[in-house]
Amino acid sequence: MPTTRPSGRTFPTDFLWGSATASYQIEGAAAKGGRTASIWDTFSRTPGKVLDGDTGDVASDHYHHVAEDVALMQAIGLQAYRLSIAWPRVQPGGSGEFNEEGIAFYRDLLDRLRAAGIAPVVTLYHWDLPQELEDAGGWTNRETAVAFGEYARRMALELGDRVSLWTTLNEPWCSAYLGYASGVHAPGVTDGAAALAAVHHLNLAHGLAARAIREVLGEDAPVSVTLNLHVTRAASDDPADVDAKAQIDTIANEVFLGPMLEGAYPERVFTDTAAVSDWSFVQDGDLETIRVPLTQLGVNYYSTGRVRAGVPAVGDGGPGPDGHKSSGHSPWVGATEVEFLPQPGPHTAMGWNIEPQGLVDLLLELRDRYPALPLVITENGAAFEDVVEDGRVHDPERIAYVHDHVDAVGEAMAAGADVRGYFVWSLMDNFEWAYGYSKRFGIVHIDYTTGTRTPKDSAAWYAELIRTRTVPA
Ligand code: NOJ
Repeated sequence: MPTTRPSGRTFPTDFLWGSATASYQIEGAAAKGGRTASIWDTFSRTPGKVLDGDTGDVASDHYHHVAEDVALMQAIGLQAYRLSIAWPRVQPGGSGEFNEEGIAFYRDLLDRLRAAGIAPVVTLYHWDLPQELEDAGGWTNRETAVAFGEYARRMALELGDRVSLWTTLNEPWCSAYLGYASGVHAPGVTDGAAALAAVHHLNLAHGLAARAIREVLGEDAPVSVTLNLHVTRAASDDPADVDAKAQIDTIANEVFLGPMLEGAYPERVFTDTAAVSDWSFVQDGDLETIRVPLTQLGVNYYSTGRVRAGVPAVGDGGPGPDGHKSSGHSPWVGATEVEFLPQPGPHTAMGWNIEPQGLVDLLLELRDRYPALPLVITENGAAFEDVVEDGRVHDPERIAYVHDHVDAVGEAMAAGADVRGYFVWSLMDNFEWAYGYSKRFGIVHIDYTTGTRTPKDSAAWYAELIRTRTVPA
């Protein structure tokens, strides 16, 4: 796949280049060091939930390859690394006693990163909720948000001096809607009302955690959240299609941006979902808690969606934004039916369309709405069918994908978007949720039988991008 943007663009010297991973996707060692089960352990062990019955038991075995993995990052020249903490590793069961062995694992990792000159960006929740909290209702239960705030407080106390940027939640859209509405992610619940309660409690969890971190580390402590804001296009300018797009914007984006950044849910959230929920879980004071001035807003971007008003075949409307079956938005929680249409190619191995312009559009919209809020691309990358040949992986399509999207970031910056960094997803191949190990996103190849790490051509290409700060023309 050739690049589609000529580029030659040079980035500022203080622009941060990194890569990202998440605990359940790479660590393995699921039963080691006092870690207890998360909802993804339970879900992945449930037959039929994850392709080929894959689990995160071993994953990329990062737990046993920490020194090697940090050395790889250093060899690539990463300036920052985005990781997540497994809550059940540091607080088994999600309440009560913390686990010193689990905390020590992350303290050691952070120390190694800092010694290597790599700034750690730490996500507190990348989907591995302690199973015991799910047994008590998970994100449908307000108490989960309270527990999350306490977990965040303790992490700030234990690790605060080592972390460059805290991220409360990763993609709460997935946690709420894929976890509790479509059920394609853990915990696998299919109940629209539960998903909306989860949305609110995730928002509350964000606010409580952000406040706890700032209480411990001071008002200037760097705090962010990462959202997968949907870039959705209306299939036509027919008002019904335009309204279908507005509905998705509301349910997918505004439901987080509103409370987190503007202090309120837009009215349309309530009217569009009135048939499913009365939102009585929103309590006095919650909106004040949720809105916290953020240091940066994390943006995860992969592809775009296209919608029209219509009636989708329930459960099979084609891949939605982020590639998941999100066409069910409407039957689950929305006011009218919305149909997600297949997007024209090219596509990645996930079936997601490749459209760097969507990232430009998103960043410019955020520039207009929140001119004072710095942005960071916390994830962008692509899965392709990789093959190891003579100890090498030639992945020109991934290189082209990253080339074009980094260039898109540069274009948005030239137009005034305040973007501070870019994190490629992912450093290494890993457990791609419901797709198990069948999809490879890494710039480093993992042999899941031997644990062998093989940097792909894209790793060398990325190293050169970091070194020159210039996207090749
Ligand atoms: C977003 C998620 O944060 C990450 O966990 C996932 O692997 C990538 N998208 C690719 O689907």
